[in-house]
Amino acid sequence: MINMKKLAAEKACEEIKEGMIVGLGTGSTTFYAIDKIGRRVKAGLKIQAVVTSNNTEKLARERGIPLVSLNDVQDIDLTIDGADEVDVALNGIKGGGGALFREKMVALHSKRNLWVIDETKLVSELGAFPLPVEVLPFGYRQVEKELTKLDFHPRLRKQSNSETPVVTDNGNYILDLSLKKIKNTEWLAQKLDSISGILEHGLFLQLTSDLLIGKKDGTIEKRTSGSFREEAKHQINE
Ligand code: A5P
Repeated sequence: MINMKKLAAEKACEEIKEGMIVGLGTGSTTFYAIDKIGRRVKAGLKIQAVVTSNNTEKLARERGIPLVSLNDVQDIDLTIDGADEVDVALNGIKGGGGALFREKMVALHSKRNLWVIDETKLVSELGAFPLPVEVLPFGYRQVEKELTKLDFHPRLRKQSNSETPVVTDNGNYILDLSLKKIKNTEWLAQKLDSISGILEHGLFLQLTSDLLIGKKDGTIEKRTSGSFREEAKHQINE
């Protein structure tokens, strides 16, 4: 069976050039990119990487990839990351793995963000995937109430088969919002940004310029923000 995630992730690594500062995303798709980069580093490629989670840090160290802190770089040349859903305007939902805050920080400080997904993650409208929101433990139940009033249906993320909340790398909790369809992404992002107690949310709007999609027929499709927005325009005009 074709491994669509591996296809896209390994293709993305072709964009990495000698001397670059590379952002390493988090998740099962990015795993293949980190693995590939590790092999290139062993073969002599000189790069430095900024990681987006403790899991990615561990993986990158095991693969011998030199790391640098986000504090110690001017900016990042290229970040390769996965996503949970991507729409035709190249906006996405991230944070299924709980690394949304560091992923967004790294994305915001990257000259170029390249997402790698399998074709099942392409959607016409975001929202079927629950939107992760990272909240500080202090008073998180008040935030939960506020989100409930807004009809966002928050659910505290718990460890599997347990009542213990998942704790992020930043020591916080995650509320997953069951929205089904997000009609106005900009409005929602602004609303969530304005609520005290929310550190970050998983709506990544206009942050990515390139997308590689691994397909079940074994091909890889490349889309850029330009082509995505053209397609969006067509859909709106049709
Ligand atoms: C991590 O918090 C997420 O943002 C991941 O990038 C996203 O969930 C994609 O993960 P997979 O590649 O494992 O599907």
